[in-house]
Amino acid sequence: MPSSSRPFIAEAAPFLKWAGGKSRLLSQYQPFLPPGDAIRRYYEPFIGSAALYFHLQPAAARLSDCNWKLVETYRVVRDQPEALIAALQPHKNEKSYYYEVRAQNPRQLSPVERAARLIYMNKTCYNGLYRENQKGEFNVPFGRYKRPKICDRERLYAASEALQGVDLCHEDFAEAIADAGRGDFVYFDPPYVPLNATSSFTGYSRYGFDDGDHRRLAQAVHELTARGCQVMLSNSSAPLVYNLYQGHDYHIEQVQARRNINSKTHRRGPVTELLIMNYRP
Ligand SMILES: C[S@@+](CC[C@H](N)C(=O)[O-])C[C@H]1O[C@@H](n2cnc3c(N)ncnc32)[C@H](O)[C@@H]1O
Repeated sequence: MPSSSRPFIAEAAPFLKWAGGKSRLLSQYQPFLPPGDAIRRYYEPFIGSAALYFHLQPAAARLSDCNWKLVETYRVVRDQPEALIAALQPHKNEKSYYYEVRAQNPRQLSPVERAARLIYMNKTCYNGLYRENQKGEFNVPFGRYKRPKICDRERLYAASEALQGVDLCHEDFAEAIADAGRGDFVYFDPPYVPLNATSSFTGYSRYGFDDGDHRRLAQAVHELTARGCQVMLSNSSAPLVYNLYQGHDYHIEQVQARRNINSKTHRRGPVTELLIMNYRP
């Protein structure tokens, strides 16, 4: 088989490592999910690595995020997997090369080159973290992976296949759900309310996500409930989360997560997270 031809299509799964990614929690989420064929349209307004989308693979979906480079990467995976794979080939797991690529001005690259750069840095940077400085520049240091799979062709083709026909939008979560209605399922996975000053990672972008954003999000959940949408939301077990969602007719479940974004190994043990649903699972 020539190296450029399409390989066997593997099962679709996230092609990025993302802070707060839900891959390892899917088995705990499963009993609470509506059946895929009962969903008219699926909305995931904080897409990250899209773990739940790839798990459910609903017939119709709108995926979005406020990170334009991330959304563009999904579009490139969906529409130009071959060009993307070719652009990933020259990238290598070397410290000095990594810092050269990181120093590039992404605005001077083509969409395919930018997507390859984002995937390359995601696979080789420290902990697969995505973090930007005040100027919106990616600022994560080089990681310590021995042999990262920078170009996972099977996974990229599988993701491309699974993303066909999906709307991919760069927008704030409030815009993303503007046309959601009865029969739709919305999964919100925002940057979490920190449990304490140092425990949680919320720096996905220079804009952050503060208590005011969590209040806006709770309003969105109430509004979607009034419109007849099924809504599921993940968050930490911080008091603010209980304050925002208790006292409504919502179902709150606890799940146990292992988090590894904290650099202090002894703080990587299981933590209780919440799953909030506006329906009876
Ligand atoms: C916890 S991550 C989502 C993880 C994802 N569920 C997964 O499985 O990988 C949160 C995401 O929210 C995005 N985000 C932060 N503020 C946002 C906003 N106001 N509107 C939309 N997306 C936002 C970040 O860029 C980040 O990708």
